[in-house]
Amino acid sequence: MTAPDTAEPLQRQFDDTIARDHRVEPRDWMPDGYRRTLIRQIAQHAHSEIIGMQPEGDWITRAPSLRRKAILFAKVQDEAGHGLYLYSAAETLGADRADLTERLIEGRQKYSSIFNYPTPTYADVGVIGWFVDGAAICNQVPLCRSSFGPYARAMVRVCKEESFHQRQGYELLLTMMRGTEGQRAMVQDAVDRWWWPSLMMFGPPDGDSPNSAQSMAWKIKRHTNDELRQRFVDMTVPQAERLGVRLPDPELRWNEERGRHDFGTPDWSELQRVIAGDGPRNAERVSRRRAAHEDGAWVREAASAYAAKQAARAAGAAAATQGQAQAQEGTAA
Ligand SMILES: [Fe+2]
Ligand SMILES: [Fe+2]
Repeated sequence: MTAPDTAEPLQRQFDDTIARDHRVEPRDWMPDGYRRTLIRQIAQHAHSEIIGMQPEGDWITRAPSLRRKAILFAKVQDEAGHGLYLYSAAETLGADRADLTERLIEGRQKYSSIFNYPTPTYADVGVIGWFVDGAAICNQVPLCRSSFGPYARAMVRVCKEESFHQRQGYELLLTMMRGTEGQRAMVQDAVDRWWWPSLMMFGPPDGDSPNSAQSMAWKIKRHTNDELRQRFVDMTVPQAERLGVRLPDPELRWNEERGRHDFGTPDWSELQRVIAGDGPRNAERVSRRRAAHEDGAWVREAASAYAAKQAARAAGAAAATQGQAQAQEGTAA
């Protein structure tokens, strides 16, 4: 006689949850691969939010007006918040936040390739909001229906903020396009530099994305990389026309038959290089994150010491109350 297989009914229950489009919650049984995939994806997403503060954060002290400074400050702070929600979501799967941070600063875990590009002008702030936050919206709106509950719920709030980020970027660019010849040229230059890296944010083409099929079967992911990229292009082309900029792709045109835009192929070898660590700003981004982590060690130590003191005080108070109750019981008897 063999021991009954306990995993099988649990697996059936999990499959059923996915099939019915219900949410998997942290207390539920889940296959190891599902847990590992989610921890990797959520951690990379969290790292991207945190590293993503740097390219624009560089402009906070140099914003052209108080209004622009306040907007940029709020936006960069939102990105920090997104990172924190996501680290919390990863913790519900048993991941340890300190360990995830170590992996990031040791280069063992990735973040979005887009944040390895430089931001030489203020138009970059606008184009990042328009393209990068726009691409993030295309990626993240379907994640609000992701099968893992804490991830899906975090995305609902994150997406509301991303939509503010996209609008502030576009509004900044509209203002610059109504300005001087020099400002219009600055916007076009930023568009030229960010367009292709933004298309690469959706990841390699479907044929080269080996984990996609499993993530789609688990309903972590709802659309393929190529589908999301197409959506982004279709959404952005009319916005570019309205703004009066040219997207730097000679193959970009409306395809009447498909009812969608045709567009050129990004330089995938560039994506591979940037992912492998050889982008224009990879080393700088990671070393700055490492320095911030080391500089913040005293804050984490102080917070832990304070939490330990509070816990000891609470335990002491509970023991005293219990002693008092026992003494009262003794008098009553
Ligand atoms: Fe974000
Ligand atoms: Fe954002």
